[in-house]
Amino acid sequence: MIKFENVSKKFPLGTLALSEVSFEIEDKDFVFFVGPSGAGKTTILKLILHEFKPSNGTILINDFDVTSREFYQLEMLRRNIGMIFQDFKILFDKNVFENIALSLKVLSANDDQITKIVNQALELVGLTKKKLSFPVQLSAGEIQRVAIARAIVGDREIILADEPTGNLDPKTTWEIMKIFKKLEGKKTILIATHNIDIVNSFQKRVLVLKQGKLTKDQRKGGYEV
Ligand SMILES: Nc1ncnc2c1ncn2[C@@H]1O[C@H](COP(=O)(O)OP(=O)(O)O)[C@@H](O)[C@H]1O
Ligand SMILES: [Mg+2]
Repeated sequence: MIKFENVSKKFPLGTLALSEVSFEIEDKDFVFFVGPSGAGKTTILKLILHEFKPSNGTILINDFDVTSREFYQLEMLRRNIGMIFQDFKILFDKNVFENIALSLKVLSANDDQITKIVNQALELVGLTKKKLSFPVQLSAGEIQRVAIARAIVGDREIILADEPTGNLDPKTTWEIMKIFKKLEGKKTILIATHNIDIVNSFQKRVLVLKQGKLTKDQRKGGYEV
């Protein structure tokens, strides 16, 4: 469960990125965050990942108040969250297998277990044949597949994706979205996107942000600009 209660975030230079935002997301829910650039989508994902604290309000993740002064379980929280970025953020000096395996380093898994888990993730994202390729040998869509595989390994319950198809052409966009579809019902998935076609096609819950305010929380799908 992810719960925001009257969360506001003001950045040091005075930008009010979020203003009194409240919502609750159940386990294994599939949710889109939409809204124009600057609306606060990335700020919400970063607050969940605990990159910074809100200026006001409370954030509960699995009943842990991650905004309280007594919150010391940051490592545990991060281990439970997989993050996917628009610009991929994978390591260019490591091959596909190594990029994904690195994400398991925090777990106490042995080499055989790591190989098994990485192979399963590669299968899921359709990259088995490119296991030993380096990022320069991959297309943007394939690189994003690596990033998704990296985000899901290690039994992470929450997947945050920030404009995951923002740098992809339309055909590749749909291929990547098919992978998210496969994860539906298995993990809690939060996707920030501009892509209205995707949102309308998925017919999932949509949270609309405008200038830091949550203006709409739609249970199922359609979104108009
Ligand atoms: N680190 C930061 N310092 C100051 N202002 C920021 C910072 N990060 C984001 N902002 C501002 O907060 C607002 C929301 O940004 P963001 O969450 O990135 O929006 P979105 O992801 O919807 O495009 C914007 O006005 C942005 O300029
Ligand atoms: Mg953003």
